Amino acid sequence: MRLNFLPDQDFAGRLDRDDPLANFHSQFIIAHPGLIYLDGNSLGRLPVGTIKRMQEAVEHEWGHELVRSWGDNWWEAPIRVGEKIASLIGAASGQVVVTDNVSIDLFKLAAASLSLQPEKTKIVTDALNFPSDLYILQGLVRTLGNRHQIVRIGSPDNDITPDLDALAASIDADTALVTLSHVVFKSGYLYDMAAITELAHKGGALVLWDLSHSAGVVPIALDECQVDFAVGCTYKYLNGGPGAPAFLYVRRELQKQSLSPITGWWGQKTPFAFDLEYVPAPGVARFLSGTQPILSLQAMDAGLDSTTMAGIKNIRQKSVLMTEYMIFLYDTYLAPLGFSLGSPRNPDRRGSHVSIRHSEGYHINRSLIEEMNVIPDFREPDNIRFGLVPLYTSFMEIWEAIRRVRAVVEEKRYQKYPSNRQIVT
Ligand SMILES: Cc1ncc(COP(=O)(O)O)c(C=O)c1O
Repeated sequence: MRLNFLPDQDFAGRLDRDDPLANFHSQFIIAHPGLIYLDGNSLGRLPVGTIKRMQEAVEHEWGHELVRSWGDNWWEAPIRVGEKIASLIGAASGQVVVTDNVSIDLFKLAAASLSLQPEKTKIVTDALNFPSDLYILQGLVRTLGNRHQIVRIGSPDNDITPDLDALAASIDADTALVTLSHVVFKSGYLYDMAAITELAHKGGALVLWDLSHSAGVVPIALDECQVDFAVGCTYKYLNGGPGAPAFLYVRRELQKQSLSPITGWWGQKTPFAFDLEYVPAPGVARFLSGTQPILSLQAMDAGLDSTTMAGIKNIRQKSVLMTEYMIFLYDTYLAPLGFSLGSPRNPDRRGSHVSIRHSEGYHINRSLIEEMNVIPDFREPDNIRFGLVPLYTSFMEIWEAIRRVRAVVEEKRYQKYPSNRQIVT
């Protein structure tokens, strides 16, 4: 798909003029027009529509209607909003619910999957996975009495792409679960969901995908790929807001046998009967535990609209063009300055962020944020991640960000920043 990109600023303007999604940026609050925000893969921008929706939720639903709002639209919100997300991730109705956060949802679904195959003892994952996913698996193994073994493929020296041969070799008749991040948080590597799911199924294992870095920006076909379980967050490309609840997916055929390890009243069949024995709700709602964060849910619901309106195929098309363009500019301007590319070159295997690496990466990132009006983020040991969000990132911003990265290095601006890490990088 590599186009004949040109390195000059005018060319960025031409790409913006030809961008069919260019108008979507007006659906977001751009409080500081000079600020180049390239961290929507961490926290999406605030959608304009969310403000009105929150005002209504706080003033009318909470302030005016009080507890009556539970019956109006609050109680059903996790399912209702789950249905909206389902349409973005290739899931038919009745398989997605919004609740908790990714870590907790992963715990619930990993536990459910292990109990479906109690005789098997292996969980296969990789070293590129988000650490919280690995911590959750470690905690789950402990909780279950250390009967399971986590097989983590990959080594620290290869942290851009996974070792697919090692992955295939690690799945055997004793493997209960294969769980991976669809798009890897550091390098942006995009797994082939269909191929890996088929590989796991051939080995007799169930599959649990973490869609946090792909939902809303990469087309996902959970049903078509016959995925068993999935989780994902909504505060990145789905613009749900800080701490917005996550979503989980359980394939319809597995729902009857799958049980949550946290059996609270929201997942009970008849919560307002207040029976003393737990009976699971019939569908995916059984994975709810307790009272949901209603205000966050309403904010997140409103945040989904621009993604639905733009269409995931159009979003992906622009995303690929943007990451290709960024890599072209990296090759032209940054590779000669001691940077290396921390993301795959093949656009089919890349999500919507590009990592560039430099031994002074931490200091360069701080300089960009503190004096250059560019916000990427930094991931150890040397990755500066640039999240490119089709709904509001422009090609001119990409061009200008690269120019400012260059300035930071050529003018040695990064040298004045201390090495001690801030709490959030
Ligand atoms: C791929 C991935 N999985 C899981 C998480 C953790 O999500 P949560 O904080 O909602 O548990 C993150 C957070 O950024 C992530 O990027």
